[in-house]
Amino acid sequence: MDAEALARRLEEIPRVRLVHEPTPLELLPRLSAAIGRPVYLKRDDAIGPAMGGNKARKLEYLLADALRRGHRRVVTYGGPQSNHARITAAAARRLGLEPHLFYFAPRPPRLTGNLLLNDLLEAHMHFLPFGGTSRPRSIAWTDFLVRLLAWLRVGPHYFIPVGGRSVLGGLGYVRAAMELHQQAQAEGLGSAWVVVAVGTGGTLAGLWAGLTLLQSPLRLLGIDVGALWKNFPKTIARLAEQICARLGEPHRFPITEVPLIERTYVGPGYGVPSPQGNEALRRLARTEGILLDPIYTAKAFAGMLDRIENGQLGEREPVIFLHTGGLPALFAFEG
Ligand SMILES: Cc1ncc(COP(=O)(O)O)c(C=O)c1O
Repeated sequence: MDAEALARRLEEIPRVRLVHEPTPLELLPRLSAAIGRPVYLKRDDAIGPAMGGNKARKLEYLLADALRRGHRRVVTYGGPQSNHARITAAAARRLGLEPHLFYFAPRPPRLTGNLLLNDLLEAHMHFLPFGGTSRPRSIAWTDFLVRLLAWLRVGPHYFIPVGGRSVLGGLGYVRAAMELHQQAQAEGLGSAWVVVAVGTGGTLAGLWAGLTLLQSPLRLLGIDVGALWKNFPKTIARLAEQICARLGEPHRFPITEVPLIERTYVGPGYGVPSPQGNEALRRLARTEGILLDPIYTAKAFAGMLDRIENGQLGEREPVIFLHTGGLPALFAFEG
Protein backbone atom coordinates (compact mmCIF):
# COMPACT_ATOMS: atom_id res chain seq x y z
CA MET A 1 0.00 0.00 0.00
CA ASP A 2 1.46 3.42 -0.87
CA ALA A 3 1.45 6.43 1.44
CA GLU A 4 -1.40 8.11 -0.43
CA ALA A 5 -3.67 5.08 -0.11
CA LEU A 6 -2.86 4.82 3.60
CA ALA A 7 -3.49 8.54 4.05
CA ARG A 8 -6.93 8.13 2.44
CA ARG A 9 -7.81 5.28 4.82
CA LEU A 10 -6.75 7.38 7.79
CA GLU A 11 -8.77 10.37 6.56
CA GLU A 12 -11.95 8.28 6.96
CA ILE A 13 -11.44 8.05 10.73
CA PRO A 14 -12.44 11.06 12.89
CA ARG A 15 -9.48 12.99 14.31
CA VAL A 16 -9.07 16.28 16.15
CA ARG A 17 -5.99 18.44 15.52
CA LEU A 18 -3.69 18.63 18.55
CA VAL A 19 -0.17 18.31 17.17
CA HIS A 20 2.33 20.37 15.21
CA GLU A 21 3.23 18.12 12.29
CA PRO A 22 5.35 16.99 10.60
CA THR A 23 7.75 16.97 13.51
CA PRO A 24 11.36 17.64 12.46
CA LEU A 25 13.80 14.88 11.57
CA GLU A 26 17.21 16.25 12.61
CA LEU A 27 20.74 14.96 12.12
CA LEU A 28 22.86 14.92 15.28
CA PRO A 29 26.18 15.94 13.70
CA ARG A 30 28.53 15.73 16.70
CA LEU A 31 27.12 12.50 18.06
CA SER A 32 27.17 10.97 14.57
CA ALA A 33 30.83 11.92 14.14
CA ALA A 34 31.70 10.41 17.52
CA ILE A 35 29.84 7.17 16.79
CA GLY A 36 30.89 6.85 13.15
CA ARG A 37 27.43 6.64 11.60
CA PRO A 38 24.55 9.06 11.06
CA VAL A 39 22.17 9.38 14.01
CA TYR A 40 18.94 11.35 13.60
CA LEU A 41 16.28 12.49 16.05
CA LYS A 42 12.61 12.47 15.13
CA ARG A 43 11.31 15.27 17.34
CA ASP A 44 7.96 14.10 18.71
CA ASP A 45 8.98 15.94 21.86
CA ALA A 46 8.27 19.14 19.88
CA ILE A 47 4.71 18.18 19.04
CA GLY A 48 2.55 19.97 21.68
CA PRO A 49 0.31 20.37 23.64
CA ALA A 50 1.64 21.39 27.10
CA MET A 51 5.24 20.32 26.45
CA GLY A 52 4.38 17.53 24.07
CA GLY A 53 5.30 13.90 23.66
CA ASN A 54 4.11 10.81 21.83
CA LYS A 55 0.70 10.60 23.50
CA ALA A 56 -0.50 13.68 21.62
CA ARG A 57 -0.70 11.75 18.34
CA LYS A 58 -2.77 9.01 19.98
CA LEU A 59 -5.10 11.51 21.61
CA GLU A 60 -6.06 13.03 18.26
CA TYR A 61 -8.05 9.87 17.52
CA LEU A 62 -9.10 9.04 21.08
CA LEU A 63 -10.52 12.46 21.90
CA ALA A 64 -12.24 12.70 18.52
CA ASP A 65 -14.02 9.51 19.56
CA ALA A 66 -14.89 10.99 22.98
CA LEU A 67 -16.43 14.07 21.34
CA ARG A 68 -18.26 11.99 18.76
CA ARG A 69 -19.84 9.98 21.58
CA GLY A 70 -20.88 13.14 23.39
CA HIS A 71 -18.73 12.74 26.52
CA ARG A 72 -17.81 15.68 28.78
CA ARG A 73 -15.40 13.86 31.12
CA VAL A 74 -12.28 11.97 30.20
CA VAL A 75 -10.61 9.42 32.50
CA THR A 76 -7.17 7.92 32.24
CA TYR A 77 -4.40 6.71 34.54
CA GLY A 78 -0.68 6.08 34.82
CA GLY A 79 2.38 6.07 37.05
CA PRO A 80 2.98 9.18 39.22
CA GLN A 81 5.07 10.87 36.51
CA SER A 82 2.81 9.78 33.64
CA ASN A 83 3.34 12.00 30.61
CA HIS A 84 0.28 10.44 29.08
CA ALA A 85 -1.89 11.70 31.94
CA ARG A 86 -0.47 15.23 31.65
CA ILE A 87 -0.93 15.41 27.87
CA THR A 88 -4.45 14.00 28.21
CA ALA A 89 -5.24 16.74 30.73
CA ALA A 90 -3.91 19.45 28.39
CA ALA A 91 -5.64 18.06 25.30
CA ALA A 92 -8.92 17.65 27.19
CA ARG A 93 -8.77 21.25 28.40
CA ARG A 94 -8.04 22.42 24.88
CA LEU A 95 -11.23 20.71 23.70
CA GLY A 96 -13.38 21.89 26.63
CA LEU A 97 -13.47 18.45 28.30
CA GLU A 98 -12.94 17.67 32.00
CA PRO A 99 -9.82 15.55 32.69
CA HIS A 100 -9.75 12.97 35.52
CA LEU A 101 -6.43 11.28 36.20
CA PHE A 102 -6.04 8.18 38.41
CA TYR A 103 -2.81 7.11 40.11
CA PHE A 104 -2.13 3.97 42.15
CA ALA A 105 -0.05 5.92 44.65
CA PRO A 106 -0.59 8.14 47.68
CA ARG A 107 -0.73 11.88 46.99
CA PRO A 108 2.85 13.17 47.31
CA PRO A 109 3.44 16.03 49.75
CA ARG A 110 4.79 18.23 46.90
CA LEU A 111 3.54 18.16 43.30
CA THR A 112 6.53 18.13 40.94
CA GLY A 113 7.15 17.51 37.24
CA ASN A 114 4.07 16.23 35.43
CA LEU A 115 1.96 16.39 38.59
CA LEU A 116 2.65 20.10 38.91
CA LEU A 117 1.58 20.65 35.30
CA ASN A 118 -1.62 18.66 35.94
CA ASP A 119 -2.32 20.99 38.84
CA LEU A 120 -1.84 24.05 36.61
CA LEU A 121 -4.22 22.50 34.09
CA GLU A 122 -6.68 22.00 36.98
CA ALA A 123 -7.01 18.33 36.15
CA HIS A 124 -8.84 16.23 38.75
CA MET A 125 -6.20 13.94 40.23
CA HIS A 126 -7.42 10.84 42.08
CA PHE A 127 -4.68 9.24 44.18
CA LEU A 128 -5.45 5.65 45.23
CA PRO A 129 -3.10 4.52 47.99
CA PHE A 130 -3.42 0.83 47.00
CA GLY A 131 -2.94 -1.42 43.96
CA GLY A 132 0.58 -0.18 43.14
CA THR A 133 2.90 -3.10 42.40
CA SER A 134 6.26 -3.56 40.77
CA ARG A 135 5.32 -7.06 39.55
CA PRO A 136 4.24 -7.47 35.90
CA ARG A 137 0.49 -6.95 35.50
CA SER A 138 -2.16 -7.62 32.90
CA ILE A 139 -2.96 -4.48 30.92
CA ALA A 140 -6.59 -5.54 30.43
CA TRP A 141 -7.08 -6.18 34.15
CA THR A 142 -5.61 -2.81 35.24
CA ASP A 143 -7.72 -0.97 32.65
CA PHE A 144 -10.82 -2.77 33.94
CA LEU A 145 -10.07 -1.87 37.55
CA VAL A 146 -9.64 1.85 36.82
CA ARG A 147 -12.78 1.87 34.69
CA LEU A 148 -14.74 0.46 37.57
CA LEU A 149 -13.30 2.89 40.13
CA ALA A 150 -13.89 5.78 37.76
CA TRP A 151 -17.56 4.89 37.40
CA LEU A 152 -17.90 5.09 41.17
CA ARG A 153 -15.96 8.35 41.58
CA VAL A 154 -16.58 10.28 38.37
CA GLY A 155 -19.77 8.84 36.85
CA PRO A 156 -20.22 8.66 33.07
CA HIS A 157 -16.96 9.29 31.23
CA TYR A 158 -14.84 8.43 28.23
CA PHE A 159 -12.15 5.98 29.31
CA ILE A 160 -8.68 6.14 27.78
CA PRO A 161 -6.56 3.02 28.47
CA VAL A 162 -3.15 3.36 30.06
CA GLY A 163 -0.74 5.18 27.74
CA GLY A 164 -3.56 5.70 25.21
CA ARG A 165 -2.81 2.14 24.21
CA SER A 166 -5.65 1.06 21.95
CA VAL A 167 -6.51 0.59 18.30
CA LEU A 168 -7.60 4.22 17.94
CA GLY A 169 -4.53 5.48 19.78
CA GLY A 170 -2.31 3.28 17.60
CA LEU A 171 -3.62 5.02 14.49
CA GLY A 172 -1.73 8.12 15.62
CA TYR A 173 1.49 6.19 15.18
CA VAL A 174 0.39 4.77 11.84
CA ARG A 175 0.20 8.42 10.73
CA ALA A 176 3.61 9.00 12.31
CA ALA A 177 5.03 5.98 10.44
CA MET A 178 3.80 7.52 7.20
CA GLU A 179 5.35 10.87 8.05
CA LEU A 180 8.67 9.30 9.05
CA HIS A 181 8.76 6.99 6.01
CA GLN A 182 8.35 10.01 3.71
CA GLN A 183 10.96 12.08 5.58
CA ALA A 184 13.45 9.19 5.57
CA GLN A 185 12.95 8.66 1.84
CA ALA A 186 13.44 12.36 1.15
CA GLU A 187 16.70 12.27 3.17
CA GLY A 188 17.84 9.10 1.38
CA LEU A 189 18.03 7.11 4.62
CA GLY A 190 17.16 3.76 2.99
CA SER A 191 16.89 0.97 5.52
CA ALA A 192 17.69 3.09 8.57
CA TRP A 193 16.91 1.74 12.03
CA VAL A 194 14.15 3.44 13.99
CA VAL A 195 14.57 3.11 17.75
CA VAL A 196 11.80 3.93 20.22
CA ALA A 197 11.16 3.68 23.98
CA VAL A 198 8.41 1.20 24.86
CA GLY A 199 6.14 1.69 27.88
CA THR A 200 2.72 0.23 27.06
CA GLY A 201 3.68 -0.78 23.53
CA GLY A 202 1.04 1.32 21.74
CA THR A 203 3.56 3.52 19.93
CA LEU A 204 5.59 0.50 18.82
CA ALA A 205 2.48 -1.37 17.63
CA GLY A 206 1.27 1.65 15.63
CA LEU A 207 4.68 2.20 14.01
CA TRP A 208 5.04 -1.50 13.25
CA ALA A 209 1.60 -1.63 11.65
CA GLY A 210 2.24 1.56 9.65
CA LEU A 211 5.72 0.65 8.39
CA THR A 212 4.51 -2.85 7.48
CA LEU A 213 1.49 -1.58 5.53
CA LEU A 214 3.77 0.82 3.66
CA GLN A 215 6.32 -1.95 3.04
CA SER A 216 8.83 0.58 4.28
CA PRO A 217 12.52 -0.40 4.24
CA LEU A 218 12.88 1.26 7.68
CA ARG A 219 13.69 -1.24 10.43
CA LEU A 220 12.13 -0.90 13.84
CA LEU A 221 13.46 -1.60 17.32
CA GLY A 222 11.56 -0.97 20.55
CA ILE A 223 13.34 -0.80 23.89
CA ASP A 224 11.28 -1.73 26.92
CA VAL A 225 11.77 0.73 29.77
CA GLY A 226 9.47 -0.80 32.36
CA ALA A 227 9.11 -4.60 32.43
CA LEU A 228 5.55 -3.81 33.47
CA TRP A 229 3.30 -6.17 31.59
CA LYS A 230 2.54 -9.88 31.36
CA ASN A 231 2.85 -11.47 27.88
CA PHE A 232 4.10 -8.15 26.52
CA PRO A 233 5.23 -9.25 23.00
CA LYS A 234 1.94 -11.07 22.46
CA THR A 235 -0.13 -7.99 23.37
CA ILE A 236 1.95 -5.85 20.96
CA ALA A 237 1.52 -8.30 18.06
CA ARG A 238 -2.25 -8.50 18.69
CA LEU A 239 -2.56 -4.72 18.82
CA ALA A 240 -0.65 -4.29 15.54
CA GLU A 241 -3.06 -6.81 13.96
CA GLN A 242 -6.12 -4.99 15.29
CA ILE A 243 -4.78 -1.66 13.99
CA CYS A 244 -4.34 -3.10 10.48
CA ALA A 245 -7.80 -4.66 10.64
CA ARG A 246 -9.29 -1.28 11.62
CA LEU A 247 -7.70 0.14 8.47
CA GLY A 248 -9.27 -2.64 6.37
CA GLU A 249 -5.87 -4.25 5.68
CA PRO A 250 -5.71 -7.49 7.72
CA HIS A 251 -2.17 -8.62 8.43
CA ARG A 252 -0.63 -11.27 10.70
CA PHE A 253 2.17 -10.24 13.07
CA PRO A 254 3.95 -13.31 14.55
CA ILE A 255 4.93 -12.99 18.21
CA THR A 256 8.43 -14.16 17.35
CA GLU A 257 8.89 -11.07 15.13
CA VAL A 258 7.90 -8.40 17.65
CA PRO A 259 10.77 -5.87 17.40
CA LEU A 260 11.27 -5.49 21.14
CA ILE A 261 14.19 -5.78 23.54
CA GLU A 262 12.53 -6.63 26.85
CA ARG A 263 14.08 -5.89 30.27
CA THR A 264 17.75 -5.39 29.27
CA TYR A 265 17.71 -1.58 29.60
CA VAL A 266 15.05 -1.16 32.32
CA GLY A 267 17.59 -0.66 35.13
CA PRO A 268 16.15 -0.63 38.68
CA GLY A 269 12.53 -0.62 37.43
CA TYR A 270 9.77 1.37 35.80
CA GLY A 271 9.75 5.02 36.77
CA VAL A 272 13.21 4.86 38.34
CA PRO A 273 16.13 6.40 36.41
CA SER A 274 19.03 4.06 35.56
CA PRO A 275 22.75 4.93 35.70
CA GLN A 276 23.16 3.94 32.02
CA GLY A 277 20.15 6.09 31.06
CA ASN A 278 21.45 9.06 33.02
CA GLU A 279 24.80 8.78 31.28
CA ALA A 280 23.07 8.69 27.86
CA LEU A 281 21.02 11.75 28.85
CA ARG A 282 24.17 13.65 29.78
CA ARG A 283 25.98 12.52 26.65
CA LEU A 284 23.26 13.85 24.32
CA ALA A 285 22.97 17.06 26.37
CA ARG A 286 26.74 17.64 26.27
CA THR A 287 27.24 16.79 22.58
CA GLU A 288 24.09 18.28 21.03
CA GLY A 289 22.40 20.47 23.66
CA ILE A 290 19.27 18.28 23.53
CA LEU A 291 17.52 16.89 26.60
CA LEU A 292 15.93 13.49 27.14
CA ASP A 293 13.68 12.40 29.99
CA PRO A 294 15.08 10.04 32.64
CA ILE A 295 12.30 7.39 32.57
CA TYR A 296 11.67 6.61 28.91
CA THR A 297 13.87 8.24 26.30
CA ALA A 298 17.13 8.21 28.27
CA LYS A 299 16.91 4.46 28.90
CA ALA A 300 16.00 3.76 25.27
CA PHE A 301 18.78 6.06 24.04
CA ALA A 302 21.23 4.19 26.29
CA GLY A 303 19.99 0.93 24.77
CA MET A 304 20.45 2.31 21.27
CA LEU A 305 24.03 3.48 21.98
CA ASP A 306 24.88 0.16 23.61
CA ARG A 307 23.61 -1.82 20.63
CA ILE A 308 25.40 0.43 18.14
CA GLU A 309 28.65 0.12 20.08
CA ASN A 310 28.30 -3.67 20.35
CA GLY A 311 27.51 -4.13 16.64
CA GLN A 312 23.95 -5.30 17.38
CA LEU A 313 22.20 -2.65 15.29
CA GLY A 314 23.36 -3.41 11.77
CA GLU A 315 26.64 -1.95 10.58
CA ARG A 316 26.68 1.43 8.93
CA GLU A 317 22.99 2.19 8.34
CA PRO A 318 21.67 5.48 9.72
CA VAL A 319 19.80 5.30 13.01
CA ILE A 320 16.73 7.38 13.82
CA PHE A 321 15.81 7.81 17.47
CA LEU A 322 12.19 8.75 18.05
CA HIS A 323 12.20 11.39 20.79
CA THR A 324 8.88 10.73 22.48
CA GLY A 325 9.11 13.64 24.95
CA GLY A 326 8.61 13.35 28.70
CA LEU A 327 10.78 16.32 29.70
CA PRO A 328 8.61 17.49 32.65
CA ALA A 329 9.71 14.35 34.54
CA LEU A 330 13.24 15.85 34.65
CA PHE A 331 11.97 18.26 37.27
CA ALA A 332 10.69 15.47 39.48
CA PHE A 333 14.18 14.01 39.96
CA GLU A 334 16.20 16.88 41.35
CA GLY A 335 19.77 15.85 42.06
C1 LIG B 1 8.13 10.07 27.05
C2 LIG B 1 7.55 8.74 26.72
N1 LIG B 1 8.21 7.96 25.85
C3 LIG B 1 7.75 6.74 25.51
C4 LIG B 1 6.58 6.24 26.06
C5 LIG B 1 6.15 4.87 25.67
O1 LIG B 1 5.05 4.88 24.80
P1 LIG B 1 4.07 3.65 24.76
O2 LIG B 1 3.31 3.64 26.05
O3 LIG B 1 3.19 3.91 23.61
O4 LIG B 1 4.88 2.42 24.63
C6 LIG B 1 5.86 7.03 26.98
C7 LIG B 1 4.63 6.55 27.63
O5 LIG B 1 4.46 5.49 28.11
C8 LIG B 1 6.36 8.31 27.31
O6 LIG B 1 5.71 9.11 28.17
